[in-house]
Amino acid sequence: MAKPAHDYEDFVHVGPATLAGRYMRTFWQPVAASRNVPTGKARRIKILGEFITLYRGVSGEIHAVDDRCPHRNTQLSAGWVEGENIRCFYHGWVFDGRGRCTEQPAEKNENFASKVNVRAFPARDYLGLVFVYLGEGEAPELPRYPEMEDDSAGVLYANVEKTPIPCGFFQRVENAVDQAHLPFVHRVINSGDKVYH
Ligand code: FES
Repeated sequence: MAKPAHDYEDFVHVGPATLAGRYMRTFWQPVAASRNVPTGKARRIKILGEFITLYRGVSGEIHAVDDRCPHRNTQLSAGWVEGENIRCFYHGWVFDGRGRCTEQPAEKNENFASKVNVRAFPARDYLGLVFVYLGEGEAPELPRYPEMEDDSAGVLYANVEKTPIPCGFFQRVENAVDQAHLPFVHRVINSGDKVYH
């Protein structure tokens, strides 16, 4: 009979209430290439098992909020970017970059909007990437890499690429440190032969 997984043994799941998920949320996470988040267009991103809406306001500032509208659960990423805000596609509720609801066109009670909000996450552009902090409390300083900040040669940002790897983060990390698989899984590639298995 399979042994039940204990919380302290679960390194695989990354949802908000999981062990690894809580740990991973103590770091800023790169979630998109900056060039792929143009001004005025929202994107839906899945990171650590959660969907978030990413958008860039007219000021150029990047914003990250929950992907679900608290009214009827519509994807906020399907909505419209207006200034620094996002307007829900369904009934037009407006949320600012801090997640506060500022407008509800069909609500008779004008004060109700001030009682509604979505989660908002600190977000930054850095080195051609968008970083988001999904953890609890105040975000730590975004780590800086001064040696990479000089882009006078114009090569750093151009090298930001995305490669989807269809597995959980733990399998990727575990595979990277498993040197014993290299001469077998990669032996054809390593031999210089261009046939990939
Ligand atoms: S579902 Fe978003 S405003 Fe109604």
